[in-house]
Amino acid sequence: MNVYDFAEQILFGKSLEDKLIHHRLQDFDYDESNHSKKIFLPKLPERDQQIKISEVQAKFPKKSTFHLDDKKAMALHFFANHELLAIEMMAAAILTYDFENADEKKQFHKGLVKTIIDEQKHLKLYTHRMKEWKMNLGDLPLNDFFWNYMPDLKTPSMFYAAMALTFESANLDFANYYSLCFKEVGDDKTSEIMRIVYEDEISHVALGAKWLNHWRNDKDLWTYYQENLPALLTPNRAKGIHYREEYRKEAGLDENFCQKLTAFEDGFRVTKRKTWGQDLPDNHEG
Ligand SMILES: [Fe+2]
Ligand SMILES: [Fe+2]
Repeated sequence: MNVYDFAEQILFGKSLEDKLIHHRLQDFDYDESNHSKKIFLPKLPERDQQIKISEVQAKFPKKSTFHLDDKKAMALHFFANHELLAIEMMAAAILTYDFENADEKKQFHKGLVKTIIDEQKHLKLYTHRMKEWKMNLGDLPLNDFFWNYMPDLKTPSMFYAAMALTFESANLDFANYYSLCFKEVGDDKTSEIMRIVYEDEISHVALGAKWLNHWRNDKDLWTYYQENLPALLTPNRAKGIHYREEYRKEAGLDENFCQKLTAFEDGFRVTKRKTWGQDLPDNHEG
């Protein structure tokens, strides 16, 4: 399958099946000549009625209610929303960024395809588990969350600064935290899903770091990362509940970057988040 057709089906196909379009990694072709038209970023990804983006904000269930299946299903619905948006943003990145170097473009696309396949796996893990509790994706409002940042991510370096080193970095903490929460209520199956997400997220953050290290020239990674964050994002958004510096080290981020991120403080609190946070518990200790 051509990488552009794959990305177009994800971004402009309307159904969940379109978003989950599956091809084996080895079956992709990255031939530029198969793609002649210039794609502009749509205001929103295409979605059918069942998975339509809504203005309504659902409330994240409190951790103290996680012994109840319907509350756990609600939590997974939020996480599934993140996965779907990540899949669509990565597809948009394939379709809209241009490169002077053809080989670099191909490598950029290869990395994104591999990550999209992981995100599709996460989305399916969440939706299958939700189904066991009689919930489908779209049964609760789905929001546009961090898609809102997409128009501000003008370059591939801005894309990876925001996506991998900020949103996916925060998810290292969230995935670990919720894996423990589900374990605490005896739900090993859901806990294991969160652990799988965490393991994959390590490699996604590492991929973003690899690209920023490639592009940063003589600047250090921390400086380059900050320079590439869009105006409304701060490094605090790269931290989730129960932040752990060692998760970043596991993702290969250098010592200086990890220390700076750990020390970074701009008065912004995780509980006051306007995007990820509005979907997360007010009291994150539950
Ligand atoms: Fe994911
Ligand atoms: Fe990811």
